[in-house]
This record gives sequence, structure tokens and C-alpha cells, in this order.
Amino acid sequence: MEYAENILGTIGNTPLVKLNKLVEELPCLVLAKYETFNPGNSVKDRMAVKMIEDAEADGRLKPGGTIIEGTSGNTGMGLALAAVVKGYKTICVISDKQSKEKMDILRAVGSKVVVCPTNVDPEDPKSYYSTSKRLAEETPNSWYVNQYDNLSNTAAHYESTGPEIWKQTDGKVTHFLVGVGTGGTISGVGKYLKEQNPNIKVWGIDTYGSVFKKYHETGIFDENEIYPYITEGIGEDIIPKNVNFDVIDGFTKVTDKDAAIYTQKLAKLEGMFLGNSAGAAIKGLLQLKDQFKKDDVVVVLFHDHGSRYVGKMFNDEWMRDRGFIEDKLTSAQDVINNHLDKPLITVKTEELVSHAIERMKAYKISQIPVEDSSGFVGAVDEADLLRKYIENKDISNLPIKEVMHKPFPIVSKNTPIEAISKLFDRDNNAVLVKLSNDEYQIITKYDIISVL
Ligand SMILES: Cc1ncc(COP(=O)(O)O)c(C=O)c1O
Repeated sequence: MEYAENILGTIGNTPLVKLNKLVEELPCLVLAKYETFNPGNSVKDRMAVKMIEDAEADGRLKPGGTIIEGTSGNTGMGLALAAVVKGYKTICVISDKQSKEKMDILRAVGSKVVVCPTNVDPEDPKSYYSTSKRLAEETPNSWYVNQYDNLSNTAAHYESTGPEIWKQTDGKVTHFLVGVGTGGTISGVGKYLKEQNPNIKVWGIDTYGSVFKKYHETGIFDENEIYPYITEGIGEDIIPKNVNFDVIDGFTKVTDKDAAIYTQKLAKLEGMFLGNSAGAAIKGLLQLKDQFKKDDVVVVLFHDHGSRYVGKMFNDEWMRDRGFIEDKLTSAQDVINNHLDKPLITVKTEELVSHAIERMKAYKISQIPVEDSSGFVGAVDEADLLRKYIENKDISNLPIKEVMHKPFPIVSKNTPIEAISKLFDRDNNAVLVKLSNDEYQIITKYDIISVL
């Protein structure tokens, strides 16, 4: 009989899988180290168990203890699985940027989940770094894992992931590429592979909003490089002890948009349903194409599974909201399709300015067409009203006809967006679109900017 003693016995020995369509433009063999075959569906199972075993061995983790960690989800999953098998409790501290699926999954395997804001400094008491440390101080018989600075993280990859890649490629691997977060994967695998063959090149995939690339190239920790980003799992606003810059030959940065689009492409072109950092990794690999020659064997490691991103990179509405999917909008009709359910707000010539202002506030709009029985005869907008208010403080009691400016141009629904954009100038912020004899919609400068 062949079986594992428990689920932890199935960690590691993941397959290498050839990439095909997505890497057609590259001259070399590209192989994916496919880490979703681990029981927690990510590479992090490897280091989670190693960190626990090392802590058990030297007494930092005691029987019945509580494991506390700040985690983007995958390490938490690995820790939680091991905790279930070994009889510990887990508390995972997670940033609110992470997908809801990741939080639900952690709860499913018995972990308590504490959610912290993303956009605060690491030193802020609310940050997920500070919260994890505080919980560890307050919870009796607890152990704070700290995957960033805990070198058992790198050791796990030095002992298992690196040797597997070397053996599976029969020592022919020439390049290793991987997304960098704590740095454990790149540093452990990189060190092992370079010890076998110092000519192997190791590249890190970084993201815009993270400090790694600049720090590696200049030694400068540039705070200006730090800003919020969407890509999950990679990039940092700190330099974790697990990042060993000596084994890294270079970094390439991938945008949030490219990482998201390539996450979808991996599923659609290769049948590889993977997480967001896999999208970043494959796009980073394509960005580095000039580095590769015909006989090279390039290994790219994919960290986690697509199921954790179904509400995000695999949700077209989410992608569209962030401008990651560009719908082909060419005419007035395409633009107003977004607000057809909303009525056109107008004001009559005899109404007072105060009525127009109330309507602007109620509907959160900045301009209103003015009509009388003959049709549209003028328009008011907030900038114009403000200018007139400065001249005359009693403006709110004046009838609209006394303050309105020329009416918005009227276009047909088939008018191209380029033609509409030419109608905007300093005095004109909107156009009206004629849908039928008595039905109109409005397109504002803002609508056109969002489309562009
Ligand atoms: C999805 C995902 N990708 C990439 C990484 C980065 O791996 P490492 O922390 O080993 O640098 C992580 C871990 O933080 C991750 O969860």
C-alpha cells in the first residue's frame, strides 16, 4: 500500500509543466513549477511546515500553543493545515486588500482571521505587521511566526523546492524566475540552484508600488516607490530578512493591469487556473525575453490557485471597474449605455437658481440643461454658478433664465466619441444625445475621460 501518514505528507514533489501558447515568442523551453498541487493549493505549505517544525524543535512553539501570523492567505493556509494535524490553534492577521475567498478559506480550516487596513505604514499600530506582533504579546502560549524574517522560510525552499527543480530538469535549468514577497522562495531556490551551477540566472518579479527593484539596483530604500497596488502576493514596503539579494540577478516590475490580464491568459491559453502572482510572473518572463537563448531551460514558479481570485481577476466586472478590460466604446450610444437607467435631470427657465443647486446636490451632478416649452434653451454648471455667485451673493433667488449660458450641443446617438470630445471646451462641459423625439441623455466631459 502507498499512502501518506497525514495530509502534510503530500506536500512537495509538484510537477513541472511545459508552457506552450503563451510563450510562443520565446526561443527556449519554459517550464512551470506548478505549486498548486500542494494540499493547501500553494507553495507556502512547504515553508509553513518547516517554520513550525523548526519552532517545535527549539521550543518556540509548545504543545497546544497558538500560531499567530500576518499573512496574505497562503502561508496562513499552510500553517492552519499543519496546526490541524499537529494540534495547535492559529490566528491569521490579513490585510483588507486580500480577496474575501482567501479569508473564508482560512476560516474553513479552523483559523481565526483578523482583518487590518492595507494603506497604513508598517509602523502604524493598525498595520498587519503591528497587529500580529501585538496579538502575539497578548496571547498566552503563542508563537509569532514572522514569515518575513523567519529564515526557516528560505530554508524550506533550499531543502525541497530547489532540489526538486534541479532534479526534474536533470540539471539543465538555466534561469529561474519567481514573484517575490517575503523572498523565501527566490532566496532558497536561488541559493540551491547557484550552488549547483553558478551560471544559473535568478530573476525576481516585482510590482509597481514595491521597493525591491530599486533597492537591488541602487541599495536605496526609496519611500517614494511605496504606494498602494492591486497585485496580490508580491512586492513589499519593507526589506524582509528572507530576501537574499546576493542570489538575485535582477528584478522586473509588472503593472497591476498586466498581472491581472495575464492571470486570465494563463487560464484561457494554457488551461492553468492560477493566482495573480502567476500572471505577474509570466508577464515578467515575457518582458525579459531578450535574456533567453535557444537552448535555455527557464523555470518559472507559480505560487497559488485561481480559486482564490474568482471575485477579482476572474470577474470581468471587477476587471472593468479598474480599467483592466477595455470595452470598445466608439459612439455616443456606447457611452450612455452606462447610465440609461437614470433620468435626464433638467431645470426650467422660470425656476430659481436655488432649485438647480438643490438638484445638483441631490443627484451629485455638476451641470444641468435648461428647458422651456420650445426645448433646450440654455444650461447651468457649477463652475459658472460659482463665478456668478462671487459677483452677486443673491444669485440663488434669481430665475435660471438670468444666469444660464448657451445650451449644450445636441448630437445623434451614432456620433463618434472623437467628434463629441471636440465639442468640449472651457465653456462647454457636456453634450445632449437625442435618443427619440422627446428623449435625451447627457454625456459629460467626465464620461468621456472615463471612457478614454
Ligand atoms: C500568491 C503569492 N505569490 C507570491 C508570493 C511570494 O513568495 P515569497 O514570499 O516566497 O517571496 C506569495 C507569498 O507571500 C504568495 O502568497
